[in-house]
Order: sequence, then C-alpha cells, then structure tokens
Amino acid sequence: MVPHLSEDLLLSPQSNIQIVQKARSNFPIMEAEKLFLLFSLLMLQFSSCTSHDSLKTNQTIKEGDLLISEGNNFALGFFSLGSSSNRYLGIWYHKVQEQTVVWVANRNDPIIGSSGFLFINQYGNLVLHGKDDQKLPVWSTNVSVEENDTCAAQLLDSGNLILVRKRSRKTVWQSFDYPTNILLPGMKLGLDRKLGIDRFLKSWRSADDPGFGDFSLRINPNGSPQIFFYNGTKPISRSPPWPWRSQMGLFNSTSVNDPDEIYWVFTVPDDSYLLRLIVDHLGHVKTLTWRESDGQWKEYWKSPQFHCDYYGNCGAYSTCELANLNEFGCACLPGFEPKYPLEWSARDGSGGCVRKRPHTSSVCQHGEGFVKVENVILPESSAAVWVDMSKSLADCEVQCKRNCSCSAYAIIAFPGKNYGC
Ligand SMILES: *[C@@H]1O[C@H](CO)[C@@H](O)[C@H](O)[C@H]1NC(C)=O
Ligand SMILES: *[C@@H]1O[C@H](CO)[C@@H](O)[C@H](O)[C@H]1NC(C)=O
Ligand SMILES: *[C@@H]1O[C@H](CO)[C@@H](O)[C@H](O)[C@H]1NC(C)=O
Ligand SMILES: *[C@@H]1O[C@H](CO)[C@@H](O)[C@H](O)[C@H]1NC(C)=O
Ligand SMILES: *[C@@H]1O[C@H](CO)[C@@H](O)[C@H](O)[C@H]1NC(C)=O
Ligand SMILES: *[C@@H]1O[C@H](CO)[C@@H](O)[C@H](O)[C@H]1NC(C)=O
Repeated sequence: MVPHLSEDLLLSPQSNIQIVQKARSNFPIMEAEKLFLLFSLLMLQFSSCTSHDSLKTNQTIKEGDLLISEGNNFALGFFSLGSSSNRYLGIWYHKVQEQTVVWVANRNDPIIGSSGFLFINQYGNLVLHGKDDQKLPVWSTNVSVEENDTCAAQLLDSGNLILVRKRSRKTVWQSFDYPTNILLPGMKLGLDRKLGIDRFLKSWRSADDPGFGDFSLRINPNGSPQIFFYNGTKPISRSPPWPWRSQMGLFNSTSVNDPDEIYWVFTVPDDSYLLRLIVDHLGHVKTLTWRESDGQWKEYWKSPQFHCDYYGNCGAYSTCELANLNEFGCACLPGFEPKYPLEWSARDGSGGCVRKRPHTSSVCQHGEGFVKVENVILPESSAAVWVDMSKSLADCEVQCKRNCSCSAYAIIAFPGKNYGC
C-alpha cells in the first residue's frame, strides 16, 4: 500500500512552512512568542491554500513548529516525556488531548539540551539535527534518491509520514515501514521479502523513555508462520500458525502470505473510534480505543492474560486447559507422562511430558496408527520441518505414516479451500 500524494503538494509553489501551533514543550512560552503564535494562527485563516501537512526541500521544522495532517488527525513535531528534558521528533494524535505518541524518529538518540530541526537536505533525505553546528544528523531517512530529483515529505491522515520523489511521484520512504511500539490501522506488521524490510514493534524502555525496551511483537516466518511476542529473545506468547483468520469486529484484520511478503494488518471501519495496538514497556500487547464521547483511552484487548496464553506454560507434549485458579490446567498427551513428576505435582508443568514407553518411538511401519487430540489450538510450528499447504485430509496421514521421522501431524483448514499439514 503506497499512499498517493495529493496534487496540492506537488503543484503548490514553494513556500515557507507555517507555524501552525505551539508544540507542547517544556520551554516557557515568551510573551513575544505568544503574540507571534497568535499572529501565525491569524495568518493561517487567510492562507488556507498553503498546505501545512508537508515539507519541501530546504524547508525546516524546528522547535515549536508542527506538521498537521490534512484532516487534523495527526501532528508531527518535537516533544519531551515526563520530567525529562530530552527532545524527540515524533508523531501523535492531534485530536487527543492526552498526548499520545505513535511514532518516534530518534527513539534511541534524544536531542539533549538543545533544540532540534528537521529538514529535507539537497540529497532528498529527511534529516534531523540536534545543534546547528553538529555535522552528523541525529537521525535520517537514509535512502538514496537519484540526483536531480527533489523530495517532499507529507504527513498523512493515517499517521504515515511519507517521503516522495517529485518527478516520479514514488514514495521512497514511509514511517509505516519503521514502526516503533505502536501499530496503527493500515500499518503492516511483517516482512517485505523484496524490499528486505521487517516491520515489528519494540516496546519503549519506560513510560518516559522511547528507547528500545525488552518486548517485541514480530512475525516469525519459520515453519508455518506465527506472530510472536518476545521478552528479549524469549517467547512470551504466540498466535496460532498461519493461516490467521480474518476478524471482523471493532477492527477488521487481514493477512497476506505470498512469496513477496507476509504481514498482518487491520483497519477500523467505524471511524468514530481511534484504535491502536501497542507493545507496552511492562510486557503486554494491547489494543486501546478512544472515542470523542469517552475522552480517554480504553483497553479493548490484552495479551497475555490467562495462563494458557503464556508460551510453554505447559511444556512439550502436553496440553493447557483454561482452568480456575485452584486447578492445574496442564495434561500430558495420550501415551505420555510428566518429565519431572515432582514439579508437575507442584503444579509446574513447564517441564512437559515424555513417552511412557520410550521404545515405541522407534516403532515404524508395523501397523501403528494415530491418536486424535481434539479441541486444541495448533501446536507451535516454527520448528515444524514439514509444512505442506496443499494436501487433503487423508494425504497428511499417509505422508506422515510413510516417513519414520514423522511422529505426529496437525491439520490446518483453509476456509473453503484445501488443508495444510
Ligand atoms: C537547497 O539548498 C542548497 C544549498 O543551499 C541549494 O544548492 C539547492 O539549490 C536548494 N534546493 C532547492 C530546491 O531550493
Ligand atoms: C545508510 O545506508 C547505508 C546503505 O544503505 C548504510 O551502509 C549506512 O550505515 C546507513 N547509515 C545510517 C546512518 O543508517
Ligand atoms: C536533470 O533534469 C533535467 C530536466 O528536469 C534533465 O534535462 C537533465 O538531463 C537531468 N540531469 C541528469 C544528470 O539526470
Ligand atoms: C475489511 O478489510 C478488507 C481488506 O482490507 C476489505 O476488503 C473489506 O472491505 C473490509 N471490510 C470492512 C467492513 O471494512
Ligand atoms: C523479561 O525477561 C527478564 C530477563 O530475563 C526478566 O527479568 C523479566 O521478569 C521478564 N519480564 C516479563 C514480563 O516476562
Ligand atoms: C521424512 O521427513 C524428513 C523431515 O521432514 C525429510 O527430511 C525426509 O526427506 C522425509 N523422507 C521421506 C522419504 O519423505
């Protein structure tokens, strides 16, 4: 999905960027600045044909300036968090009073003790500098643009900041390809194998520090693809294997898995809701909603929540059943027993189970059969060595039976289509 740039941006004459509104900042607003702000706001009334959602070559956004998307959904500018004086360049909801940052450019490289400025340099890249005398930028889009072509940046109503080549009208960079900790409607979570981009979410370090935290949400394409939520490299929870069912509710989710890309994306059909998916710094994936009438963010969904949501809560060769707090939800598969009976009886099922009679594992092609385990979600599939998405139900069994290194198979049903093994 490469958004189109409005004609307005491409055709309007060169003009200086408007100071639309004072950004929320920790710096005291001087009396003169207040007047200037008022003046700018007044000016704005009479210059509605000048877009203030875009930035052209050699134009600058500095402390106090904002880019505001056409329909006023999102704003881009400088901000600080909590009591910290570190400055960041980011995008937030323009209509939501409680500042809710959805994207940060320099998340690991705050601008300290000085004000920054953002501009498009002569090479067509967006660059963020901390001090006027600093040679190296704090952040840049770092894309190669053909010489002799200029670029313009535009903040779209989706919250996507795009950098567009003027002559060819190609989007050469977009913030949606470099998510921070939030997934917005229309933003893809996943891999673009052609462009070599892996779009994943990484939590902030703390509520006041957008630097890389421990938690991440990303697609693991190995075996049959799954969406994993990690603490560092340790899985916390996972989605079922591909194919992911599309959902229709408050949000409409779809997913694509083809040779070029694999991703999950959602849209929100009811535009009275703002909805964002966030990986928070405390170790949760959440979706939050905001409505004008609520005036605040409300939790819509959260994971992990129940003990079976936790990855490996019940270990290998066992199942996890949602039980009440006084019950133990782990159970071994038929023919298996707890690997560590002591821990198991102390209600720690993470050690998993082992075959009761180990020698049976070598029985092969002597009339063995399969035991069906029903009403379970599909097992962890990233280590599955055999994934075949174009089989019939009977084929899976035949294929597994024929191969002595196959001890079990799971069937994935594609709605209205064939089966996968
Ligand atoms: C931008 O500034 C550079 C250096 O001052 C200049 O060479 C270039 O022509 C300018 N580009 C535009 C489009 O104004
Ligand atoms: C910019 O991109 C080049 C090549 O794509 C890479 O080698 C370089 O490290 C990048 N620089 C920064 C600051 O990310
Ligand atoms: C630069 O653009 C002009 C027209 O816009 C074209 O005539 C010229 O050949 C271009 N130069 C290069 C080096 O591409
Ligand atoms: C849900 O999303 C799909 C794919 O983006 C789209 O074709 C469909 O029209 C959407 N449905 C609604 C009700 O928005
Ligand atoms: C994440 O991992 C760290 C280090 O292993 C651990 O101390 C912390 O408790 C974990 N947090 C969560 C929420 O799993
Ligand atoms: C049996 O399965 C293994 C693992 O998937 C595979 O490497 C091997 O080629 C298969 N053998 C036959 C005869 O299909």
